[in-house]
Amino acid sequence: MARSSQHHIVGLLALISPAISTLLAEEGVPEAAATGAADLAAGATRYQQVCAQCHGPKGEGNFELKSPSIAGLPDWYVAIQVGKFQRNWRGAKPEDVPGHLMHAIAQALDPVGVRDVSGYIASLELIPTQLTLKGGDAERGAEIFRERCMECHRYNGRGEPAFRSAQLIGLQDWYLLSQMKKFREGARGGHAEDVYGNKMHRITERMTDESFLDIATHISDLAKRYAKEKPRNR
Ligand code: HEC
Ligand code: HEC
Repeated sequence: MARSSQHHIVGLLALISPAISTLLAEEGVPEAAATGAADLAAGATRYQQVCAQCHGPKGEGNFELKSPSIAGLPDWYVAIQVGKFQRNWRGAKPEDVPGHLMHAIAQALDPVGVRDVSGYIASLELIPTQLTLKGGDAERGAEIFRERCMECHRYNGRGEPAFRSAQLIGLQDWYLLSQMKKFREGARGGHAEDVYGNKMHRITERMTDESFLDIATHISDLAKRYAKEKPRNR
């Protein structure tokens, strides 16, 4: 009996990678998430109480609210992005309406809550990028992706902790587009201290809306191919 209840507890805890605090510190947001094991049950409760109203009960996102599909994002990435909202590196400007919504939410989160909810979000099943936008050229997108994006986001669009690069193949095509535009304009990645965001700012600086659409179209193809492949989490 003691053993089965112990099992039960272990089942609810997922170890946030010990490396996560190092990643957070190197990004300049060490305070965003507490160290230690994520309590997935607490994370689930927090998620349903706070996040689900905008990100959906399964983390599928919401087009009306312009909120991304975050299901299956790596825990370290979620924690880092919350830290960036808290530090005013993302969403600080009221004219960035979706960013500003998330900015307000992030201010109210505590480090233990962020750790737990990040673990829970990572445990949700990734929802592959669907093509909803018309007119993109997948082949041209693939070419650009191979030349300019793959080195950090990997051949499968899964991202890579070593580069702090995002997992792209679960995000909606319109969200991918909106974030590439924000990077280009510096609304994201424009803050001097945001070293990794800055890389994306420089990469997108001279790119056109047309190539963003081509890339997003290609990412929906990658999602078809690689959504079932396990991410390299650490
Ligand atoms: C009021 C609506 C709302 C609520 C509640 C909300 N979010 Fe968000 N969230 C958004 C929007 C909108 C964006 C997109 C911001 C942008 O366009 O820059 C976002 C973006 C994010 C991102 C960035 C994802 C990425 O890949 O860029 C993360 C991570 C995130 N939210 C986590 C959370 C968590 C965790 C919670 C609950 C504790 C939460 N959000 C609650 C609206 C919300
Ligand atoms: C030098 C490495 C590097 C290269 C090359 C790169 N990225 Fe990124 N990308 C990153 C990092 C790091 C982030 C996370 C930025 C942050 O924390 O805000 C990111 C974030 C993103 C995001 C935001 C995802 C989200 O969750 O909101 C998109 C979209 C993106 N990159 C697309 C691209 C595309 C398209 C290309 C090629 C044109 C590209 N990236 C090339 C490193 C890179």
